[in-house]
Amino acid sequence: SQEELPSTDIITLTRHVLADQFELGASATGDLTLLLTAIQTTSKFIATNVRKARLINLVGLAGETNVQGEEQKKLDVLSNDIMINSLRASGKTAVLVSEENEDAIIIESKYKGKYCVVFDPLDGSSNIDAGVNIGTIFGIYQIAPDSKGTIQDVLRPGSEMVAAGYTMYGSSANLVLTTGRGVNGYTLDAALGEFILTHPDIRIPPRGKIYSFNEGNSMYFHPPVISYLNSIKYPSNGKSPYSARYIGSMVADVHRTLLYGGIFGYPDDKKSKSGKLRLLYEAFPMAFLTEQAGGLATTGTKRILDIVPTNIHQRCSVFLGSKDDVLDLQKFYQEDA
Ligand code: AHG
Ligand code: MN
Ligand code: MN
Ligand code: MN
Repeated sequence: SQEELPSTDIITLTRHVLADQFELGASATGDLTLLLTAIQTTSKFIATNVRKARLINLVGLAGETNVQGEEQKKLDVLSNDIMINSLRASGKTAVLVSEENEDAIIIESKYKGKYCVVFDPLDGSSNIDAGVNIGTIFGIYQIAPDSKGTIQDVLRPGSEMVAAGYTMYGSSANLVLTTGRGVNGYTLDAALGEFILTHPDIRIPPRGKIYSFNEGNSMYFHPPVISYLNSIKYPSNGKSPYSARYIGSMVADVHRTLLYGGIFGYPDDKKSKSGKLRLLYEAFPMAFLTEQAGGLATTGTKRILDIVPTNIHQRCSVFLGSKDDVLDLQKFYQEDA
């Protein structure tokens, strides 16, 4: 029998996105590919800093507070600077929105392109110092044809995003991307410095057996959330209860949910009236990925991607994951109405 030789035909992220463009034909300009190249570079740069953080004094606080009132970590600030520099220099962006900047950044004409990038440069800040998985989340809009690039170009429903994704910095760096034609996952080959296609066409199982909520907030949860959680922890008709998994980095919790199925939730509650997660650069990109993988993403009563933002930092209630699990959750909201 013949031994299998190592592949000489690896599919890098850039090659994969280009292949998509060849299929689209003349309508594709290659601009999105170049923008995604810039984003890949930021992920590689952030990944190396995450790896070295403990060694080069990159753990701990930066000393400033962001617009959400959170204390910024050194890695929040560094990752944000890396992204802003690279996205501006790509020449493909017009408007940038970051968790760490109060105002949208309007790119000067010299560098102006036609895309807007909304991003969470470092997601899971509370996990940095413990070496637990963290990530970067991004969503991409195209500016309106007659626009020079203003805040209006990002105050649009998530359903209008042209691409979204995240990179998870874990045992390896994994970039998961959608351009509206399904979801693909790539793993950074550190020796090559390339993201290689390792998870083609990710499909979230229609039902899972894991729930992922910060149940420490239970005393504030609204009745439908409490009833739903009870239904999966104390199931009737002899079914097994769900397992709990909660990392506290949205990127890591969503990554597991996409691969294993189940439900991730960060609901609004009696204390956090709009929930915690930010609509533009946390909820929208993750909702887009989830739907593209065959799952659902809802506030409990409304499809997340249909929300029209009025503020770049607004928050929203989030439940996402396997279709059947999210439908079950929604039933409790319908009964409550
Ligand atoms: P960030 O680190 O970008 O501020 O995001 C934190 C978010 C998200 O990663 C996670 O799902 C959630 O906060 C965890 O919140 P709790 O610590 O309240 O569970
Ligand atoms: Mn934060
Ligand atoms: Mn975050
Ligand atoms: Mn963050």
